[in-house]
Amino acid sequence: MPGGKPQPDRDIQPTDAPDFFIGDVPVVGRVFLSPMAGFSDSPYRLLCREHGAGFSFTEFVSAHALSHGCPEALSLFRFHEHERPIIFQIFGNDRARLLAAALRAQELGPDVIDINMGCSVKHVAHKGSGAGLLRDPVATGRLFESLARALEVPLTAKIRIGWDPQNLNYREMARVLESSGAAMISVHGRTKVQGYKGVADWEAIGEVAARVRVPVLGNGDVRSFEDARARQRTYGLAGVLIGRAAMGNPWIFENPARPIGEAERIGVMRKHFESMAAHYGEAEAVVLFRKHAARYIAGGTLLRAHRLALLTAASAPEFADLCGELLGRARSCTDEFAA
Ligand SMILES: Cc1cc2nc3c(=O)[nH]c(=O)nc-3n(C[C@H](O)[C@H](O)[C@H](O)COP(=O)(O)O)c2cc1C
Repeated sequence: MPGGKPQPDRDIQPTDAPDFFIGDVPVVGRVFLSPMAGFSDSPYRLLCREHGAGFSFTEFVSAHALSHGCPEALSLFRFHEHERPIIFQIFGNDRARLLAAALRAQELGPDVIDINMGCSVKHVAHKGSGAGLLRDPVATGRLFESLARALEVPLTAKIRIGWDPQNLNYREMARVLESSGAAMISVHGRTKVQGYKGVADWEAIGEVAARVRVPVLGNGDVRSFEDARARQRTYGLAGVLIGRAAMGNPWIFENPARPIGEAERIGVMRKHFESMAAHYGEAEAVVLFRKHAARYIAGGTLLRAHRLALLTAASAPEFADLCGELLGRARSCTDEFAA
């Protein structure tokens, strides 16, 4: 881990009573940041944790790249100790390769290892990885058995409800996964063919929860903390994962929800950028932060010229100066209203 990283304001206290367990790993909280490649890196996970998200879930990492010790792949598993419990996610389909990758990943100290069974992108799913694993429950069951036997940490799965509407095999898949050693199942309530279209089927998610004894997390289209808690209770789930609605919005994990002023939005954006600069180095952070900036800005009230300036800042000092200026403006605006 690089030194000098900001510490979270709010630690999960070891004395907090667990809400549920993944195998023998205690989890405090019911609402979590969903894994999102390109977004849910260590700096953003940490920020979300500070705002109330439960465990951390990494972006997916290729088993093929991991089993070859590819440094870029391994770097996606960098995490901060304050993120624990931390779940590493891997995708692949070849049993020997996934096993080698999972063992390699385990050496890096995760609390749990998850297998991605939901990615719908063609070059993943159509090669039998991600949602491709849904097409052959028997082979997937064997895969989980060998992984669960070899790993010391709990093994989990994140699935979709089936390949397409004609093959909604979530009931069978949940049973196979549980009996093959999965210690938790996260369910995105769409099929592979749906991608992100239509709406997530929460009745199907609830059915999975009713059929297995291991914890089940529901996922798909959740827009707020209250919505997450309501669905968690309605469908008898251990918890809920929030993906897209958490982009540029770490406050979504706060309970109770509250209005976020422009000054706070810019302050958190700057803090997020600084955390990314410590993690990646300034030059890389400037580029990687742009997609986050676009999301923060989308939820705010900045003028067009300021939005553009934030998205095109070419260096860390330029970005810091701009944030300082915007923070000053936002504060004087707030003062005006308060006067
Ligand atoms: C940009 C992006 C990247 C994603 N990457 C992953 C990933 O690496 N692993 C995974 O299991 N799901 C991934 N997902 C799926 C999300 O975790 C989640 O299942 C999906 O977005 C539905 O939840 P939502 O409606 O709350 O966004 C990704 C989604 C998006 C939008």
